[in-house]
Amino acid sequence: MSTRSTVILGTGSYAPDRILTNEDLSKIVDTSDEWIRARSGIRERRIAAPDEATSDLAIRAAQRALEDSGIAASEIDLVVVATVTPDYPMPSTACFDVNAACSGFIYAMDTACAMLSSGRYTKALVIGAEKLSSIVDWQDRGTCMLFGDGAGAVVVGLSDTPGIGMIGTKLGALGEDTDLLYIPGGGSRLPSSAESIARGDQFIKMKGKEVFKLAVRIMEEAARDILEQHGLSAHQIDLVIPHQANLRIIDAIAQYLELPVERFFVNVDRYGNTSAASIPIALDEARRSARIKQGDLTLLVAFGAGLTYGSALIRW
Ligand SMILES: CC(C)(COP(=O)(O)OP(=O)(O)OC[C@H]1O[C@@H](n2cnc3c(N)ncnc32)[C@H](O)[C@@H]1OP(=O)(O)O)[C@@H](O)C(=O)NCCC(=O)NCCS
Repeated sequence: MSTRSTVILGTGSYAPDRILTNEDLSKIVDTSDEWIRARSGIRERRIAAPDEATSDLAIRAAQRALEDSGIAASEIDLVVVATVTPDYPMPSTACFDVNAACSGFIYAMDTACAMLSSGRYTKALVIGAEKLSSIVDWQDRGTCMLFGDGAGAVVVGLSDTPGIGMIGTKLGALGEDTDLLYIPGGGSRLPSSAESIARGDQFIKMKGKEVFKLAVRIMEEAARDILEQHGLSAHQIDLVIPHQANLRIIDAIAQYLELPVERFFVNVDRYGNTSAASIPIALDEARRSARIKQGDLTLLVAFGAGLTYGSALIRW
């Protein structure tokens, strides 16, 4: 087992060109820009082209992360993709896929860092990529306005400098609440059939209000737990990168952690919820817009279907 730190060497992200605004959505379902903005903070989301699959988005983000890191693709010996929208049910998108919904990126980072720390791998590409537009019910106004497509990636390597990089991760799940957010059909429990397709069982089902309340409580706890584990207080965090699900959820967490909302990176207004891609896209945008400087402490915190959750601390 290596005692070297696992560090982020580069980041990249990619969002498809097509923008679907709230105004555009109001022509598909009975909704309005005002309603969506007031309840979620979302203004628009990106939608992948019909011939663009999750792996196409993932590759674009990965290329940008490699370019940023200065590392050649040939040096990468581990690829982990977090997604709930793989190109195919079989095979996986990378050789190694993680399906932990909106917490997927933190789960994938923890997995990749553990594999690097084992000494058996040296450089990893960790990607969160989603084409959620392919699993959204475009007739359900309660869910379709929330989600979007995109991808984010990081190159992770090992460093001899102590105290930097991924200084801790915490993963968890509340297994009893699966039906609050899930896709009922198309798996082994309910294989696809003409009847299941006609019912729309292949699409995301969500109990929005319950998910909202749990998201706030669980993300606050996941943030507090990891800070406590490392003897840190919320005020020592320079930037929080929360899963981008809903601006009201982010505002509530900021309030409970007693942190100014300016300490939270927010781009949910432009992308909606991109599930496993949300944190790596935000991380990349935060780095490129100089919201993260050397020596900073960043907290990642996520919550998603499962119900899964996770938090991570990074010292740059
Ligand atoms: C989805 C969400 C924005 C809905 O907001 P809400 O304040 O809980 O609203 P409700 O679900 O109580 O709906 C209130 C009313 O608005 C209606 N409504 C729902 N979606 C609507 C839309 N897009 N446009 C207009 N009206 C809508 C509902 O039908 C309901 O009408 P009714 O009272 O006549 O039945 C909110 O619950 C949410 O964000 N939940 C968390 C979702 C999430 O983050 N999921 C991913 C986690 S990783």
